[in-house]
Amino acid sequence: MGATAVVTEMVAAAGLSRRSVKSHRLLRFHDEEKPIGVQLFGKRPGDFERAAELVSGMGFDFIDINAGCPVKKVVNSGSGSALLRNIPVLTAILRAVSSHTSLPVTVKIRIGWSPEEPVPDNLPALLADEGAAAIAVHGRYRSDMFSGEVRKEEIERIVRKSPIPVVANGDSRSVRDALDLLDASGAAGLMIGRGSLGNPWIFRGLVSGKPEDASPLPQEVIRVIRQQYEMMSEYIPANHLYSILRGQLLNYIRGFRGAAELRGRAVGVGCREDLEDILSELAELLSTERQRNS
Ligand SMILES: Cc1cc2nc3c(=O)[nH]c(=O)nc-3n(C[C@H](O)[C@H](O)[C@H](O)COP(=O)(O)O)c2cc1C
Repeated sequence: MGATAVVTEMVAAAGLSRRSVKSHRLLRFHDEEKPIGVQLFGKRPGDFERAAELVSGMGFDFIDINAGCPVKKVVNSGSGSALLRNIPVLTAILRAVSSHTSLPVTVKIRIGWSPEEPVPDNLPALLADEGAAAIAVHGRYRSDMFSGEVRKEEIERIVRKSPIPVVANGDSRSVRDALDLLDASGAAGLMIGRGSLGNPWIFRGLVSGKPEDASPLPQEVIRVIRQQYEMMSEYIPANHLYSILRGQLLNYIRGFRGAAELRGRAVGVGCREDLEDILSELAELLSTERQRNS
């Protein structure tokens, strides 16, 4: 849809370093997904060294280090956003990765641990000194988890201090939101997560600059869901496929009349035929909605 790059979900540096099959499975990608970065998380620089060496030969375009994940299990082990309270370890990890790859290395951070513990002003410069090519900033504190409004002015504070490009992230649900975030933060780029679930066309709208391009035709929605299903079938074992598909379908089925009822049916999808039934109903509801709005 025009996104400049994508990133894998976070993969444990320790898992890769011990050559765990489960961690390896998360590294598969198709060439048409490129440019693609691989995101590593962990807390031990030694794990990152081995992981960086391993992933460098796999065709990724960059390596991203996770210093933003707020999940308890992750931070309790000293990884993710816990690294924002332990800058020496974060910089040691960055050094470990930079010195074991020729790929660009980026870091994903939050604006701090809590309003009482924002990231230090010199963090962007420290990261740049250790070899970071860019920083992505989710405009929340760890203590915010995923709630409350994204704090654009705090991202802007980091942008002002950064000698390297900053990518702003958080709550871009529409082209308008994304452009507001870009404008308010002064960032060099945007990262979009949840706003693209069920609406990958948000990237198309941003690339063209026309918000209407972010609203797909009914047949585009159906085609993309089918395509996503095919891709998922390739990667996900049959016993997990439908439970994951149900969640994905719910992202597409919202914001039009009849959505609530169709969502109720979508949570029961258990085979390809069920999916096709849902898709024909979805096509009809989306067409009706389109006519109503035109
Ligand atoms: C289900 C879920 C999984 C996520 N997994 C990751 C992850 O693996 N690595 C990461 O850096 N951020 C992860 N995030 C955070 C997003 O990348 C992003 O920073 C956050 O959701 C705010 O941006 P958004 O409002 O555009 O989604 C995840 C978020 C959600 C909701």
